[in-house]
Amino acid sequence: MAKSTSLMAVALLAALFAATAVYAFRTGATVSTSEPHTLKLGHSLDQGHPVHAALEFMAERLDEKSSGTLRMEVIPNGQLGAETECVSLVQRGVIAMTKVSAAPLENFVPEMAIFGVPYVFEDEQHYWRVLESDLGRELLLAGEKQGLHGLCYYDAGARSFYTVSKPILEPADLAGLLIRVQESPTSIAMVEALGGSPTPVDFSDLYTNLQQGVLDGAENNPPSFYTNRHYEVCKQYSLDEHTRTPDLLVISQRWWSRLNTQQQQWLAEAAAESAEFERQLWKEKTEEALTKSKEKGVEVYTPDLQAFREQVKPLLESYRGSRVGDLIDRIQKMADDP
Ligand code: GCU
Repeated sequence: MAKSTSLMAVALLAALFAATAVYAFRTGATVSTSEPHTLKLGHSLDQGHPVHAALEFMAERLDEKSSGTLRMEVIPNGQLGAETECVSLVQRGVIAMTKVSAAPLENFVPEMAIFGVPYVFEDEQHYWRVLESDLGRELLLAGEKQGLHGLCYYDAGARSFYTVSKPILEPADLAGLLIRVQESPTSIAMVEALGGSPTPVDFSDLYTNLQQGVLDGAENNPPSFYTNRHYEVCKQYSLDEHTRTPDLLVISQRWWSRLNTQQQQWLAEAAAESAEFERQLWKEKTEEALTKSKEKGVEVYTPDLQAFREQVKPLLESYRGSRVGDLIDRIQKMADDP
């Protein structure tokens, strides 16, 4: 994280620690229904991003449902720290909620590694079939033991490579390129398997690293590529769609367990409605991001995926016999379901 961002985060956190809510959780008190109560949520995305819009939508819905007694304050742009830092704050109950990509969440909830396994989903339909199944629900709640209660998934589309100069049309094009990945062992393994050199960097530092030539490229979905202005530096975007890594809305188990049944229901309903809202918006914003990126001079490619899929087969095989290997089997069995 940049130094100025760190200082800002420290100041904000100091203020948060002073909040009465923290006192309530230290003493184990329940959240009162008569006095207005605010749940703080930190995330890494820009305010122009569709997931941020969904979180603001959720805040409105919660306000309406609870007649203003249970509110959400959405703090964007990594102001409270990078994604792993926000998860750690949620775990400890310092802030109530975060929206985090499944990739960095893997450091806390090992099952999340499945979403970093390349080409484990055949296509978008297969991906949603899994997320909406019992397995999807199981994965959403897999963080309970780590103090993280999953409320919903947000669509984060497919992640693809973008580079400053050379387009990635086949895995061999990644050779010798320094590619930014999320803070996730599986993302590192994915780029290595495809032949690139992975480097974990915080999302908030990525633009500067690309601009300064420290990195040759990165990988992400079109709305994140566009809203974070990575198109200003990376002019080659190859839609190889190697992973479908959802975002998760997570509430601290400490906060969740102190809400009464009515408050939990308001929150669960508002989250489900915001997920529905986001899924519609996602499609529109993905197309818009690609169109606008092209207008800004970005070349968008749709490479043949066969070579990419072949290249990662040994990586998928290497998981055999592990928890992730079992998840791969369960997911692949759902590929042809109606
Ligand atoms: C996506 C995801 C973010 C994440 C980012 C990243 O945009 O929605 O939560 O921070 O990828 O690559 O770090």
